[in-house]
Amino acid sequence: MKVDVLLGLQWGDEGKGKIVDVLTPTYHVITRFQGGANAGHSLEFNNMKHVLHLIPSGIFHENAVNIIGNGVVLDPAIFRSEVIEIEKKFHIDLTKRLQIAKKANLIVPTHRILDGAMEEAKGQGKIGSTLKGIGPAYTDKVGRNALRVGDILLPNFKEKYQHLKELHLKQLSLYNYQFDISQLEKDWFEGIELIKTFALIDSEHIINKYIQEKETRILAEGAQGSMLDIDFGSYPFVTSSNTICAGACTGMGIAPSNIGGVKGIFKAYCTRVGSGPFPTELFDEIGQKLREIGHEFGSTTGRPRRCGWLDLVALKYSIMINGVTELIMTKADVLDNFDTLKVAVGYKVNGKPLDYFPYEIDQKIEPIYKEFPGWKCDITCKNSEKELPKELMDYVRFIETETGVPVKMVSVGPDRDATILR
Ligand code: GDP
Ligand code: IMO
Ligand code: MG
Repeated sequence: MKVDVLLGLQWGDEGKGKIVDVLTPTYHVITRFQGGANAGHSLEFNNMKHVLHLIPSGIFHENAVNIIGNGVVLDPAIFRSEVIEIEKKFHIDLTKRLQIAKKANLIVPTHRILDGAMEEAKGQGKIGSTLKGIGPAYTDKVGRNALRVGDILLPNFKEKYQHLKELHLKQLSLYNYQFDISQLEKDWFEGIELIKTFALIDSEHIINKYIQEKETRILAEGAQGSMLDIDFGSYPFVTSSNTICAGACTGMGIAPSNIGGVKGIFKAYCTRVGSGPFPTELFDEIGQKLREIGHEFGSTTGRPRRCGWLDLVALKYSIMINGVTELIMTKADVLDNFDTLKVAVGYKVNGKPLDYFPYEIDQKIEPIYKEFPGWKCDITCKNSEKELPKELMDYVRFIETETGVPVKMVSVGPDRDATILR
């Protein structure tokens, strides 16, 4: 069967982890295809909350095969702490549930150090990177210097590592940046040993074999969001991979014709963590209220997320570049207590109206808003569409009409069960 793709349509943290976990019982294989431990995907079930960084969000379902695909940049040290934490907390043997592509690239300790040095050197212009080494790791991938997971089995792996480290140390000498690599390196090599206990696979062959099987359903889990895509996001304030649907093809080794449904996930409002343009950002007490009610603090770095109203101009742009076939709206419950809600339906630039997402997003963009009455009731306890307030359904139908894509799911709380199918 064709591969369905689930991706974030905003600036990340749309609730991908929760929804992948909800959908996993209807799939056999869950894959990550890009990004690294910059991702923080939160799942809640049985009164437990867990944040995943590298491991796909299908991992808590016994029968699902989880694959870290070739497009991912894998930090062995972070992978190790993630594995240890899950095995301790949930008493499961992850080697039975998780496989890793040999072609996935490795993040080395000096990538993380370089990330820090480069961010510091950027000063005011810093990206607001998660400092997980993502940019430098993808730079080495396209620069053809990188180490890959499959390399850890080679007899000369340590030499290859040493060679790359020396290259990085030369680069680091250009910065006035203090660092201590010894502990990072120790953790990294322990991570490498742990990776060796997992099935290291030629994932493109295995995934394409699954595609040939009539019964096997595959879901690809995106990380970050489309507005952080290296090509189409708010460059340079983006991450270093293709977060859009096309990234699923290169990040898994599958043909575009083998992509099935594209599930685009968005929050009922907007957030962004890190620097960069954000047209509907609210700097007032409404933004503060969204942050408090929505617990909008980064899952990876703990930084407060910038908050604002839903931006339909940006959402339509994301839908276009991803070919989204169905929408999933999350965090509707966060809007339970607002008298009035606003949605940006257009922009004004220098007083001129604009109905598309422009190239120059660093200039002053003034959103044109449409207002909606709030529903002013608790929807977290609702179980079906017919129980949802009229005002919320009007909000949802407006989004459907504007985008031309059906909203198939509305999430009304962080728990697995707080999910309404339409
Ligand atoms: P991801 O990176 O896209 O997986 O999203 P994150 O996990 O970083 O951030 C989403 C946050 O919202 C997490 O804390 C989730 O537990 C939480 N969440 C997801 N869906 C809902 C929802 O419908 N309502 C509320 N209140 N919280 C949600
Ligand atoms: P998930 O998968 C939100 C942001 C960082 C920074 C920029 C570049 O949880 O949605 P990087 O470390 O990738 O070089 O940082 O991208 N960023 C995210 N923001 N959610 C994420 O992942 C993010 N991953 C990176 O804050 O602005
Ligand atoms: Mg996140």
